[in-house]
Amino acid sequence: MSKEISRDIEKILIDESEIEQRCKELAAQIEKDYEKEGKTPLVVGLLKGSVPFMAELIKYFKQPIEIDFISVSSYEGTESIGDVKINKDLDLSSKNKNVLIVEDIVDTGRTLREVKKLFYNKGAADVKIVSLLDKPDRRVVDIAADYIGFTVPNEFVVGYGLDYNQLYRNLPFIGILRPEVYTD
Ligand code: IMP
Repeated sequence: MSKEISRDIEKILIDESEIEQRCKELAAQIEKDYEKEGKTPLVVGLLKGSVPFMAELIKYFKQPIEIDFISVSSYEGTESIGDVKINKDLDLSSKNKNVLIVEDIVDTGRTLREVKKLFYNKGAADVKIVSLLDKPDRRVVDIAADYIGFTVPNEFVVGYGLDYNQLYRNLPFIGILRPEVYTD
């Protein structure tokens, strides 16, 4: 039986063309900043939420970049300590590299704080963060992304990599789910 996932969306917050335009602007800004350093950045996507954003963003880089992916999750029950478990590590070395972490959303900020620490522990020369979305109202950790696509209100959003129960990542926009989807 066919079921179109877009029917579960109550409201589109950011559409595809806005995201594409913002990715062009972000890539230009990031490239300009990295050019000063004269180093090839290692662009690292946090699986899985960063995939559509990263794919769009890297199309607009004109200078050489390396890309890789990492998958992390929080240790259960140690949220306050804030430690991460690596489910899939990088294939490339990040030693002495200028690492640019690509994230879907900065929410509490815990994940990024730990991932940033992880890369410095691995010997990265510099670690910066680009996030498609920022939800500043939910922050509990004092961390800010260096580059942000859009700031969103304190609502649960899906699409463009972001999931609810592993679904909706493939929607080409950022939206809010109908309330009945959570209660079904
Ligand atoms: P943080 O460590 O609390 O900043 O969590 C970041 C992660 O939580 C993101 O990478 C997302 O996977 C997930 N997350 C936070 N807010 C949302 C949301 O509104 N929709 C979907 N996933 C979210």
